[in-house]
Amino acid sequence: MTHKKRFSDEPPPNPVPLRDIRAQLPDLLDYVAATQHSVTISNYGTPVARLVPLSDLPPNQPTRSIAMRRFRDELTATLWDLNTHREPYQITHYTAPIAALIPIDPPDRQESPMTSPALRIAIWNESGGSGKTTIAVEIGYLLAQRTNPVTGDRNRVLLIDTDPQGSLTRRLGLMDDPTSPAHRISSTVGNYLNDPEETPPTPMTATNFPELQVIPSNNKLSKIDATLLMNDEDIGNLRKMLDQFEGRFDIILIDTPPSRGGLARAALSAVDHILIPVNSSMKSIENFNHVLEVVAQCRRFSPKLKVSAFVVTSFNKAVNHDREVLQILNEHYVELAPTTSPITNRKAVFNDAMISRTVVPCWKPKDPAVRELNQVTDELLGFMGVGA
Ligand SMILES: Nc1ncnc2c1ncn2[C@@H]1O[C@H](COP(=O)(O)OP(=O)(O)O)[C@@H](O)[C@H]1O
Ligand SMILES: [Mg+2]
Repeated sequence: MTHKKRFSDEPPPNPVPLRDIRAQLPDLLDYVAATQHSVTISNYGTPVARLVPLSDLPPNQPTRSIAMRRFRDELTATLWDLNTHREPYQITHYTAPIAALIPIDPPDRQESPMTSPALRIAIWNESGGSGKTTIAVEIGYLLAQRTNPVTGDRNRVLLIDTDPQGSLTRRLGLMDDPTSPAHRISSTVGNYLNDPEETPPTPMTATNFPELQVIPSNNKLSKIDATLLMNDEDIGNLRKMLDQFEGRFDIILIDTPPSRGGLARAALSAVDHILIPVNSSMKSIENFNHVLEVVAQCRRFSPKLKVSAFVVTSFNKAVNHDREVLQILNEHYVELAPTTSPITNRKAVFNDAMISRTVVPCWKPKDPAVRELNQVTDELLGFMGVGA
């Protein structure tokens, strides 16, 4: 069953796709040890780690050990851990170290701290009710609590609502006052999407969360969706708008409508990372055949665009169907993107936090959901290659 290949005569492909690692690990390690050459592991075109000869390890660097078999069985978790803690592993076989696993150097490390570009993320799934808005607001809040490794200050987070239904805007308490500017089209991304000569909207402060800045949405945005598809050059305008926000935010998170229409495409064309929430139902994975097609089209504006993670929410481990959805993601879609640890279905907690216009970590700080949300935040940072 295992597909075996020996590299003694012919070198392995470099980079080696992550999906091939399980089958080829013993031979790859033999190759590295025998030739003293290193091999890069890539996931969906992005380098994620390197297998190097032991002699390449810097002399005073702390390392950890991992048995080859365990590395193979816990591949994604090990790579995530490696990229979060950035401490190399020595890989052992029958207790003897044979090669090492090291993280990829972040490309902009030497760059001046304050010029680091914002991490741009869209949360997208064509299927409604998959957890997009919940993930945007919960993860956005947790990211804003964390220290940015580059600036040493708290992350400056901008949330952008591009769904005409305005659930994120309502959720953040910006719609409750009928005189709020959030009800105007000029406060949304709408005018700029039609005409990039317009001044970008001024981000608002969320009523209950002074640490979050928001560009709201409202139902007036729905008419833009159709015009964008007719004039498809305008799909790139949101990206231009974010360029104007560079330097003011460390992380920009965009909540999208449940479609692959103009607004969703404008959002994807503005970012580098897509997170796809999956609410443990087959419905929320059944449109996945369109994902790659839409991503490829949006790369016209956003050349580095990729799906960086699936985020499983509303998960009930006692239900077969939910476990099957998780298994499908881990087995069939792992080449597209890794999947985070699941967020358990806790209707009362999530709905009460929503109705109270707050987030779970503020509403029920001791609830186990908070630990899961923090865990998923760590994993997402690792998957996006930015560490915790
Ligand atoms: N982990 C969870 N457990 C239970 N309910 C959840 C969970 N995550 C989200 N929900 C609920 O699922 C519903 C849909 O979520 P939402 O984020 O609005 O999806 P979308 O933005 O994709 O339409 C909301 O009522 C939300 O409170
Ligand atoms: Mg939503």
